[in-house]
Amino acid sequence: MNDFERATGLLHTGMGARGMDLKKPETLPIFETTAFTMDSLTELAEVTADKGWTYSRTRNPNRAALAETISYLEGGEASLIFGYGMGAISVTLLTLLQPGARLTCNAHTYGETFTTLSSIMKKMGVETDFVDYLDMDAVRAAVKPNTKLIYSEVVSNPTVKIADIPALAELAHKNGGLLMVDNTFTSPFSIRPIDFGADIVVNRLTQFMKGHADVLGGSVTTTQALVDKIRPISMLMGTPADSFASWMILRGLRTAELRIPRQAKTAEKLAKFFAESKCITGVCHPSLAEGRQKELAEMLFGENGSTPMLSFILPEDIEKIDAFMKALKFTKYAPTLGGLRTTMSHPVTSSHFSMPDEQRRKIGITPGMIRLSVGLEDPDDLIKDFANAMKVFE
Ligand SMILES: Cc1ncc(COP(=O)(O)O)c(C=O)c1O
Repeated sequence: MNDFERATGLLHTGMGARGMDLKKPETLPIFETTAFTMDSLTELAEVTADKGWTYSRTRNPNRAALAETISYLEGGEASLIFGYGMGAISVTLLTLLQPGARLTCNAHTYGETFTTLSSIMKKMGVETDFVDYLDMDAVRAAVKPNTKLIYSEVVSNPTVKIADIPALAELAHKNGGLLMVDNTFTSPFSIRPIDFGADIVVNRLTQFMKGHADVLGGSVTTTQALVDKIRPISMLMGTPADSFASWMILRGLRTAELRIPRQAKTAEKLAKFFAESKCITGVCHPSLAEGRQKELAEMLFGENGSTPMLSFILPEDIEKIDAFMKALKFTKYAPTLGGLRTTMSHPVTSSHFSMPDEQRRKIGITPGMIRLSVGLEDPDDLIKDFANAMKVFE
């Protein structure tokens, strides 16, 4: 007989896993717990000094396991895991930039990064110079003595243009600043930007890294010293990912090298097909690049290819675009990217909705632009499906 009541027993039985040898389970279990208990204040002091597990917003084993894996993949000293990609971007910017500082951002950038810089960071007294990074002379001219950060996506959303990472790193460092890049479209399986001089790498884990379109997350990889500065701000602002999301992302990430390069190769085949199509007036993918973009593609990307993302331009006829979308059997509209299935989005009405039209058109984002995130389907099935749907434009 137990010497406690059921209300007490219900809470204190089934706790046998506590203290288990973590090397035993084949997969790291989910530590879905708000906190970790201590037997004494002395133990609390020891755990705190050792940066051990106390409260899950501060530190959690699943988040730590994912961070360790991302650092390994990106070749960085340390990483932090966030609930969303935007958390990773905004907390890092807020930590590193003080009022009075400037940053330079590629005009080819994700719409909500653009909005964060032009609204929140501006309100914090940090001015951004948006420059088209296809023109490195213009970037050099835009950098001022108080430019503390140069920011770019490695391959831009949605124009799929490659940034000159080595040249940007050199420029940032010469000015005593840092280069921060977003590796979302490319992933560490195509490029490790730190190897080319980047100081801070962001990944939107929601996308190809997790790859299954079922959980959101983000990461920042950089030096231990910078992570030590960013971590407390992330913790105070409540942006770390929870244990379940971290566990799910790590589970998806384990097979990423089997998925992402295959998706990138299929994107190359689709890009070639679209480029040969009569109704499409433009296709953006690094495999079709010319001039300096081609040189950059060869310099930065290895045998895994560049990106599973591409975009193409259809005639600006919304009725026909609707008919084209409806005719597709395998590719559905979804305002996201990086899942197992091929999806398309329409940047003007989704990711770049808040960017002024004039600015969008300047970098080639028109109402006819469709952004494609290429999945794991057989490439020939996708080509057949697109060829059939494109008949609406004939
Ligand atoms: C390049 C890029 N970076 C960051 C983000 C933001 O990620 P999240 O939606 O997880 O906040 C996105 C979202 O689409 C993106 O495309």
